Amino acid sequence: MNWTRAWLRTSVIGHRLAGCGRASQTRQPAVAHSASSGSNIHRDTPYNNEQMTFEFTEENYQRIEQILKKYPKNYKQSAVIALLDMAQRQCGGWVPLAAMNKVAQVLEMNPMRVYEVATFYTMIHRSPIGKYNLQVCTTTPCMLRGAYDVLQACAEESGAEVGGDSADGLFHLMEVECLGACANAPMMQINDEYYEDLTPESAKRVVRSFRDGKPLPKGPQISRSNSMGPMGKTSLFEEPPGPHCREL
Ligand code: FES
Repeated sequence: MNWTRAWLRTSVIGHRLAGCGRASQTRQPAVAHSASSGSNIHRDTPYNNEQMTFEFTEENYQRIEQILKKYPKNYKQSAVIALLDMAQRQCGGWVPLAAMNKVAQVLEMNPMRVYEVATFYTMIHRSPIGKYNLQVCTTTPCMLRGAYDVLQACAEESGAEVGGDSADGLFHLMEVECLGACANAPMMQINDEYYEDLTPESAKRVVRSFRDGKPLPKGPQISRSNSMGPMGKTSLFEEPPGPHCREL
């Protein structure tokens, strides 16, 4: 067994890398240097380098087929974010260089174009991160409602610094821009779910619940439903009359 394989077998990250595609026989095109979260510079590592390969699962190839039907044949590259997201889920939360090259191959794009997308969007991680990604919004409405206290509470409870992982590999902590739930500020996203109307105390409770393996219900962490005010539901009792969309 070589060093890389030994490392993959024993490390926490290695367990998560294990789900990251099967080796394909085709060597991917050599690429410029990309990738590692937080930096646009790629540094080769034993688990992420030009020699490694990635293959989508059969199930994901079926999904790709469906996704590509949404776009004209000469605009396949419009699916780049969808495929990067799919690769990230298959790899357990990050996108290695080999997966970006595979996306480029499937969409017939120049690999550099895929790297550009992957380095621009903060939801694409180019190096392994903690299992639970705590993304605390600190844009103005959340900031005015105490987002930085929530961020501090998350750091204390998770043991992760902003932009880093906790020592146990369970948490990654990020400060992010508006996540579109301003009416429930302050809020954070954990993996795919929103936790809203937070206080430092409730944020700690939520983080603790993930550590204990029993995540609290998503949504507002105070006694209200969705974004309702103190009067409860006061509008939208009927289907809004059309037209719902401008004529295309
Ligand atoms: S400002 Fe935080 S969700 Fe919009």
